[in-house]
Amino acid sequence: MVPAFLRGQPRSARDLVDAIERAVATGTLRADDRLPPVRELADAAGLAPNTVAAAYRNLNRRGVVVGRGRAGTFIAARPPIATPAAHAVPAGVRDVSTGSPDPALLCPLRPALARIDTSIVLYGADPVDAALQPWAQRWAVPPGVTVPRCGIVGGALDGVERVLLTHCRAGDRVAVEDPAYASVLALLGALGLVALPVGIDDEGPRPERLRAALHQGATAAVVTPRAQNPTGAVLSEDRQAALLAVLAEHPDVLVIEDDHAGPVAGGPRRSIIDADRERWASIASVAKSLGPDLRVAFLAADPVTLDRVEGRQQLGTGWVSHLLQRTVLAMLTDPTTEDRLARAAAAYTARRRRLLDALADGGVAASGRSGLNVWVPVAAEGPVLGELTRRGWWARPGEPYRIASGPAVRVSVAALGHADLDELAADLLASLGHGNARTHGRVC
Ligand SMILES: Cc1ncc(COP(=O)(O)O)c(C=O)c1O
Repeated sequence: MVPAFLRGQPRSARDLVDAIERAVATGTLRADDRLPPVRELADAAGLAPNTVAAAYRNLNRRGVVVGRGRAGTFIAARPPIATPAAHAVPAGVRDVSTGSPDPALLCPLRPALARIDTSIVLYGADPVDAALQPWAQRWAVPPGVTVPRCGIVGGALDGVERVLLTHCRAGDRVAVEDPAYASVLALLGALGLVALPVGIDDEGPRPERLRAALHQGATAAVVTPRAQNPTGAVLSEDRQAALLAVLAEHPDVLVIEDDHAGPVAGGPRRSIIDADRERWASIASVAKSLGPDLRVAFLAADPVTLDRVEGRQQLGTGWVSHLLQRTVLAMLTDPTTEDRLARAAAAYTARRRRLLDALADGGVAASGRSGLNVWVPVAAEGPVLGELTRRGWWARPGEPYRIASGPAVRVSVAALGHADLDELAADLLASLGHGNARTHGRVC
C-alpha cells in the first residue's frame, strides 16, 4: 500500500525527496517517524529500489532523515526545513522546555533604545561598531590570547555555523559533546558533517573521549565551556588542563568554543584555546544575558578564520545591523547592567540548586552546575514526560540532545520561583517513581 505521505505518484528520486520533505513541512511526517524500508517503499510506489535508496541518501546528506542501522531510516529530530510547531503545550500545562532566560531578569529595552546612536550606516562601513570592540574583546577572547579585533555574528549558533563552514566540508567529522545542544547536532546534520560523540560529565568533555574522537579523524571540535546545554557542565581547572594536553597532540584541529550564556552562565569562563592553537574560534552570545531577540554574538578567532567568516558575511547578510549592535552597546554601557547580570546569574544558580537539592533529597542525582537547565537521567523518556504532562509540566525529551548517552529529560528552571521549583521537584520525583528513574551513572 502506498504510504499516506506519498500523495501522487513519484516518478524519480527527486519526486520522492520532494514528497517526503513536503510531508515533514506539513506535519504528516514528524521527528522520529520511521520511513518504510527501501524495498517496501519501492514496491508500494512502483519505483526501483535504487531510486528509493538514492532519495534516502539525499535526505540523509542534508540532515532531513537519519539512518539508525538495522532499525531503519527516521525523520531527524530537527530536520533543516520549516516544520509546524512540534506539539502545542496543552492549556494549563506549564512550559519548562524552552531554555529562554527569565524576562524579569533581562535589562529593560526602552531606556537602551532611547540612548542609541541613530546615525546612518551605509555600505562599506566597518561591520563591527567600533565602540563594541572592547566588549567583544572582554567577552570572547580566551584568557592569554591576543587578537587585534573581533567580528560580530548573529548569535552563537550563527557563529558556530559560519566557523564550521570556513574549514569543514560535507563528510568531515566533528567532535561534539554528548549530549549536546540539539540545534548544534541538527546543524551538523544539515551541513552533512558527521558528529563524533565526546562523553561528558559535570566538569566538561572527558579527555579520553575527546582523544578517541580526534583519533577517529575529527577535524573540528565544538565545546561549550560553561552552561553546557543540556547538562550544565562547566569546565573545571583540572579538566581544562587535561583537555589542553589532548588538543596539543592535534595542532591542526579547529576548536570552537560556544559561550552562549556568557556572564549569566553561573560558572567561570575557562578556555581550551591557547595562544599556540592555529585554528580556533571563541563565540560569546548576548542572547541569554540581554535577550534572545538581541541575537548578537562576539566572535574572536585566528586571523584566517575571522577573514573567512567576514568575507563570507559580505556575500550574504553583509553585517549584523548596526542598530542592533548599538542597542547591545547601549545596554552594556548602562551603569546598572553589570549588577543586573550578576543578579540574574545568582538567581539562575539559586533556582538550579533548589531543584537539584530537592531531587537529591528524593534520591535522584541530576545535573545542572551552570546555565538555565537541569538534566534529569531517566530510565525511559516517554513515560516520564507523559506523567509530567499529566501533572502540569511540559518538559523536553533528551533524545534530540543525545548521540550515545543515556535517556534523560531537560527542564528549564530560568523563570521558576522557589515555590514552583519545589512543586516541580515533587512532580518529577513522582514521575520518576515506578522504575522510571535511572539509578546508575550521573555521567552523561
Ligand atoms: C549551547 C548553546 N549554543 C548556542 C545557543 C544559541 O545561542 P544564540 O541564541 O546566541 O544563537 C544555545 C541556546 O540555548 C545553546 O544552548
